[in-house]
Amino acid sequence: MYKVGIITASDKGSQGLREDKGGPAIEKIIRRFAEDFEVADYRMLPDEKEQLADAIKDMTDRLGIDLVVTTGGTGFSKRDVTPEATLSVIERRTPGIPEAMRSISMAVTMRAMLSRAEAGIRGDSLIINLPGSPKAIEEVLAPILPSLRHGLDILQGRDAECARK
Ligand code: MTE
Repeated sequence: MYKVGIITASDKGSQGLREDKGGPAIEKIIRRFAEDFEVADYRMLPDEKEQLADAIKDMTDRLGIDLVVTTGGTGFSKRDVTPEATLSVIERRTPGIPEAMRSISMAVTMRAMLSRAEAGIRGDSLIINLPGSPKAIEEVLAPILPSLRHGLDILQGRDAECARK
């Protein structure tokens, strides 16, 4: 089993002023499409770079979470800092993942180009940013999950073989 941690970045959500729809949307898709992934932690935080970076590090370094999925805070608003928080804690970028997400999403809406989502590796863990809208999450997460699993298999040495069978 791979452990998944979900972080919702939302000023309003963290103050109880808005219901979080992104976190539950991620959980629903993981339950439906990835039986070997289990949601082990879920947090809602304000759009504060340090708090988001600390939460990612806590999940990966202390809790041993394999896949951290953030939602929200990837756009152009001055408060959107999730990509910067992510870049501050990852050791290696994995640009193909956000490229794939934007490519899938651009078929649906040209506004997908406005997501500044990042992804990368810290130790044995993978961290990916998703946009905040549940609709966007539904569009991008299910199609990329099999490749994320394969990436984790390679990262953690469970599979040394990248060739397609
Ligand atoms: N991706 C998909 N698949 N579907 C969408 O509706 N919305 C875009 C983009 N990515 C969207 C999408 C919009 S309008 C914005 S502003 C950015 O994600 C950033 O969203 P965020 O600030 O909630 O992270």
